[in-house]
Amino acid sequence: PYIIAEPCVDVKDKACIEECPVDCIYEGGRMLYIQPDECVDCGACEPVCPVEAIFYEDDTPDQWSGYVNANVEFFDDLGSPGGATKVGKVDFDPPFIAALPPMAG
Ligand code: F3S
Ligand code: F3S
Repeated sequence: PYIIAEPCVDVKDKACIEECPVDCIYEGGRMLYIQPDECVDCGACEPVCPVEAIFYEDDTPDQWSGYVNANVEFFDDLGSPGGATKVGKVDFDPPFIAALPPMAG
């Protein structure tokens, strides 16, 4: 699947959501996350993110490698809801992301 990395933190542009044909990009507390089992690898989200936060998982830059697992961990409790719109915002982030200093502005 594709994953979302650190540039999304505290930015949450959400242009990516409009492009996803399977509605698998979910909103957490400080960033958005791609449900790895629901993503069909269409790649439509990647070019529209204005801060280049989205990567095919194998192409994730080394300094953001922890975000590959973060996009898995975010769904440990949620599972595979089958659509982000009906779920809405979930006030959770994996601990290392929740602990980041403010990133935007
Ligand atoms: Fe985040 Fe970029 Fe989407 S900032 S919400 S990954 S468009
Ligand atoms: Fe959706 Fe992006 Fe995957 S548009 S299907 S999250 S590659």
